[in-house]
Formats: sequence, C-alpha cells, structure tokens
Amino acid sequence: MADQAAVNDDLDSIVPVGPPYQTPKGVHDILPADHEYYTYIKKVIRHRLRQAGFRRISTPIFEFTDVFQRTLGETTDVVSKEMYTFQDRKGRSLTLRPEGTAGVVRSYIQNNMQALAQPVQLYYIEPFFRYDRPQKGRYRQFWQVGVEVIGESDPALDAQVIQLALIVLKDLGIDQLFSLQLNSIGTPESRKKYVAALQDYYFGKERHLCELCQGRLQTNPLRLLDCKEEDCVTLAKLAPSFSEYLDDESKEFHADLKEFLDELGIKYVENPKLVRGLDYYAKTVFEFWDTSAGAQNAIGGGGRYDGLVELMGGPSTPAVGFAMGIERIIANMKRAKVRVPHKDEVHVFVAQLGKEAKKKCLPLIMKMREHGIKTIGALGKGSMGAQLKIADKFGAPWTVIMGLTEVREGVAIIRNMSVGTQEKVKFEDVLEKLITLIGKKNLDTYHPGELLYG
Ligand code: HAM
Repeated sequence: MADQAAVNDDLDSIVPVGPPYQTPKGVHDILPADHEYYTYIKKVIRHRLRQAGFRRISTPIFEFTDVFQRTLGETTDVVSKEMYTFQDRKGRSLTLRPEGTAGVVRSYIQNNMQALAQPVQLYYIEPFFRYDRPQKGRYRQFWQVGVEVIGESDPALDAQVIQLALIVLKDLGIDQLFSLQLNSIGTPESRKKYVAALQDYYFGKERHLCELCQGRLQTNPLRLLDCKEEDCVTLAKLAPSFSEYLDDESKEFHADLKEFLDELGIKYVENPKLVRGLDYYAKTVFEFWDTSAGAQNAIGGGGRYDGLVELMGGPSTPAVGFAMGIERIIANMKRAKVRVPHKDEVHVFVAQLGKEAKKKCLPLIMKMREHGIKTIGALGKGSMGAQLKIADKFGAPWTVIMGLTEVREGVAIIRNMSVGTQEKVKFEDVLEKLITLIGKKNLDTYHPGELLYG
C-alpha cells in the first residue's frame, strides 16, 4: 500500500516532457508534406478563378478593429468572443482579421473600385485568426480561400459563385462528400419581423434553452435555430419558419436562384434553419456540409451581403461571396485518400569525395538544376558511405558519385539507387545521360525569368 502511494507521488511529480518552445494552442506549423497540399490547392483555385475573370487581392493581416466590429455584428460569436484585438503603441485598437469579406469591402471603398467595371470580382488565399475553441478542423490560425463579387445584384451571380465553389471541390476530388445547404434570410426589414416572431415564440420557454441560447435570445435570436443542444434543436423544430416572413422581392430572388442552380445541374438542400454566423448577410445564404457529420463541419459558406458596402461608408452596392477553409479541405482530401503530386521529390543526389571532385561537381550541379533536374549535392565532408546513406534517405532515384579516381579518369559514376547498379559515364556526357534516364517530361523546367516581358 505504502509502495503504491510512493508510485502515485512519483507519477504526480512527472511533468510532461517536451521541447521548451512550442506553438500556442490552436496554431500549427505547416510542414513540407502538407505544403504539397497547400501548393496544389492554391494552383487549382488560381486556375479556376482566373478562368472566371477573378483577380487576386491581399488585405493586411490586421486592420482597425472598427472594420470588423459593427460589420460582422457586435453580438456574433466572432466579434464578441473570437477576435484577437490589441492596442498599438499609440493606443489605437487593431484586430487580426477573423475573416476576409469586411477587409475586401474596406479596400473596395478605399481604392475607389466603384469606378471599375462592375461587378468587381476578387479572390484571396490568406491566413485568418479566431480565438475559437481548438478541435479537429477548428484552429486559431487557419487559411481561407475566399471569393467576392461586388457591384451587381442578380441571382445568376449567386448561382455562379456557388458553382465555382463546387468546381474547385470537384477538382480537388471531394465534391461528393458535401451537400449544398441553401436558404434565404431576406432583407433586413423582413428579418426584423422574423426576429420579433422568434422572440415571441420563445417567450416563456427560456428555461428549456441552453445557457448560451438564453443569452442569444436577446442578442442574436437567429442563432437559436442552428444550436446543436438537444432541447434547443427540439424547440427550433417548432419555431416559426422564415419563409412565412420573407418579403416578395427576396422570394422572387430566391426562386430565380434555384432555377439557375437547376439549370446548372447543381443539387441543393433547402434548409430554412440555415442562418450563418455573421450579421452582414441578406437574401441568399449557403454552406457546404459534410454529409456524414452535420453542420459542425461546414467546409465553406457564404451568401449575399447587399448592405455591407453602404454600412462601411460606400454607396449602396450589392455583393455576394463565399469562403472555404483550406485545413478542412486538406483533411477531407486525406479522408478521401486523394493524393497530390509530389513536386518536391529530388531526381539526383550528387556525392563526392575530396576538393578536386567538389570543384568538378559544383558547376555540374548548377547545370543540372538549370536543365530541370532537381538536384541535391552533399557538399560537406562525410565519407562516401555516409553520403550514400543520405542519398537513400532523400529517396533520389539516381546518385552521381565522384572521387579522386573519377576526376583523374574524367568520368563520373551514375548509380541507380533502386536497383543498385552503376555505370561510368564521361564527365561531359553526364548531363545528357541523366536527362535521358529521368525522362524529359519529368524535368522541372520552369524558368520564371523567361516569362517576363516589357
Ligand atoms: P465563415 O463561415 O465564418 O465565413 O468561414 C468560412 C470557412 O472558413 C468555414 O466554412 C471553415 O471552413 C473555415 N473556418 C472558419 N473558422 C475556422 C477555424 N477556426 N478553423 C478552421 N477553419 C475555419 C466567412 O468567413 C465569410 N467571410 C465567408 C464569405 C465570403 N461570405 C461572403 N463572402
């Protein structure tokens, strides 16, 4: 018994071991293996958005807090709980951007984009910050791809941005995992009437609501509809439906949108409980839900925000857009076992012994790279055996070996790493020989400098 107590004492004194410096909770490194996903996803997005006439924008990582506060809604979770807000040295309140739309609208107004051909079509691929409760797919720094179409109001535009999101998901091999959830939350006037009806309905039922929803009843009653607590779900089922309060204009807009989606062959689920977590939406709202796990796992969402430009001091300007979370895209690509091309794999490892060999190898390595052969050279002082072990670790299919004898004979050895065979090749023929072995189509011959003009 006494022994057991001693063991417990010992266990209590064990401090979890780990390196002294670690990332804060909810943020993580993007390691090389995952960067291959990021690179590929960005490529797909850039390609598809370019095809549709979109241009890329990057707004600053931090903005004045006002840009987000009233625009996203003071009572939304994002503004009330999740913003990283701090004061600069002059006491001005700044916030790390929690989402992209408000910053893009600020930029649209500040840079007088109203003067451009409308609608202005912009996209971004950027990191965002929310003090969210970290869990799978929910981080404090995360990447979004976002699309904003500002300056025109037509349901065909809503249909088109939804279609773009689906094309990207299809290109990435995961469109089948998600269902499009669609709703209209009408104009602000119709929403006001609906909110009053909701408050009426919940009057006297407050004690059945979860604590969070009891508070939301005063501040943001629409959010009661998408609460996941069992009792709240039961009550929400019998709550009045938005469709009864929708104004005629929004009804017509929504009916037209559905017609366009049908025309494009896009399936959707009408979801009268879908409200989104940000206040700037009007009329169309949509999300892409993981069909196997429910709303917690939306991979993306968006909608129309016709009042935002005006709210931020610009002229009355309609707009629509969406954003998708890149970490969630990657998690789903992995789940669906979608692999991306490994562009980082090296073709050739160059191993050498002695200064004379090194002198020969350095220019050869440069020349190989210029010709698109991805090459790593062991330029340290390791033994040949140690260098070949490293070559193995890199997984390079070919190794070029040069020692003093080879320098004297004017040759190099080319070793096939998977089979273990090797041959001597005249030094001046090494480059051509390697190109043949690797295959011209596999070379990385992208020369950005050649693309410049002017
Ligand atoms: P949102 O629904 O707040 O919309 O975020 C869009 C997507 O970003 C989510 O569906 C999710 O994939 C990802 N996301 C959000 N929070 C996190 C997190 N903590 N960790 C990982 N991923 C996350 C917006 O942000 C709107 N600005 C979208 C929009 C653009 N509406 C109109 N235009």
